[in-house]
Amino acid sequence: MKVKTNQSLLKYNTFGINVNANFFAIINSPNDLLTVIQDSRYSSMPILILGGGSNILFTQDFDGIVLLNSIKGISVVDENENEIILEVGAGENWHEFVLYCVKKNYGGLENLSLIPGNVGASPMQNIGAYGVEVKDSVNTVKFIDLKSGLSDELTTEHCEFAYRSSIFKTKFKNQKFITHVRFKLNKRPVFNTSYGAIEEELMKRNLIPSVENISSAVINIRRSKLPDPKLIGNAGSFFKNPVISFEKAEKLKTEFPEVPLYPSGDSGMKVAAGWLIEKAGWKGKRFNNFGVHAKQALVLVNYGGSKGSEINILADKIRESIREKFDVELEKEVNIF
Ligand code: EPU
Repeated sequence: MKVKTNQSLLKYNTFGINVNANFFAIINSPNDLLTVIQDSRYSSMPILILGGGSNILFTQDFDGIVLLNSIKGISVVDENENEIILEVGAGENWHEFVLYCVKKNYGGLENLSLIPGNVGASPMQNIGAYGVEVKDSVNTVKFIDLKSGLSDELTTEHCEFAYRSSIFKTKFKNQKFITHVRFKLNKRPVFNTSYGAIEEELMKRNLIPSVENISSAVINIRRSKLPDPKLIGNAGSFFKNPVISFEKAEKLKTEFPEVPLYPSGDSGMKVAAGWLIEKAGWKGKRFNNFGVHAKQALVLVNYGGSKGSEINILADKIRESIREKFDVELEKEVNIF
């Protein structure tokens, strides 16, 4: 394993931002990781763990060492006639892993098709789409502590999963290196087509719900709304859908009867941030080489050559305008570095 110096991160982030890292290592195994973190040249440096780079916005060069998580492999841990447990290397590409499950007809992840990024990041931010969150299929997360080099694991109940969050994004932030994720999948799948667009897409194409058909419907829906990071730089939804109090939700509904609101437990209602941003006039706005996606206002885009700092300034302007117009606080979903 080689540690490179002054490495461009352009091809390692889906926003397509060109910044450099002082040091850069590709981690193919837990042993590679131990070699780096036990080396006194690197052990006291700031560390940034990168997976698929699909949820990050670089606003400056990184003064430290980037560890690219490339641990690969899919193996069967346990299996009976109803379920299978797979252990997957954190550096496997998420969508390719979903397609592997679809091909084998293992149910649970089909609604999460075509999400950019790697397997290791999936429990970290509890990726979710079309009525499903990855926490429903995660069995165990295995990781190495960056300070002690010791291996450990957490079962689902201890991962503190929440909407786009987990213990790895909060308490354990920048402390643990996820090496493998175990998933429990169904050999007799129960489908989740509750999200209206999936049902519409299946009906339109005259398809019955199946692992394969749902995956294909989700792929079509995503392609119709979300920009392909290979063509236009982006990191998916830039903001979370905020949870607002019942009182505020009521007030918003009175003023804007069409506002999309969803139940969100006892704490309040979730409001569609994309709708707020569109209503505030930002949808499709372009400034030089960056802007707000024309088909999904929750997605900020880099048309090529933009700086992360200018995209971040745009994000702050959007937050400010949503605060002024609706008295709602938007929280960034993307990690800013
Ligand atoms: N909407 C608008 N204008 C827009 C965008 C959305 O009015 O520009 C409205 C839609 O009409 C709809 C509502 O907002 O009524 C929700 O829109 P959509 O179904 O597109 O989903 P979302 O809430 O904007 C969330 C996730 C996505 C996920 C989709 C589908 C978050 C932050 N985002 O988006 O996840 O794919 O639901 O389940 O929760 C991601 O996290 O990167 C991501 C893409």
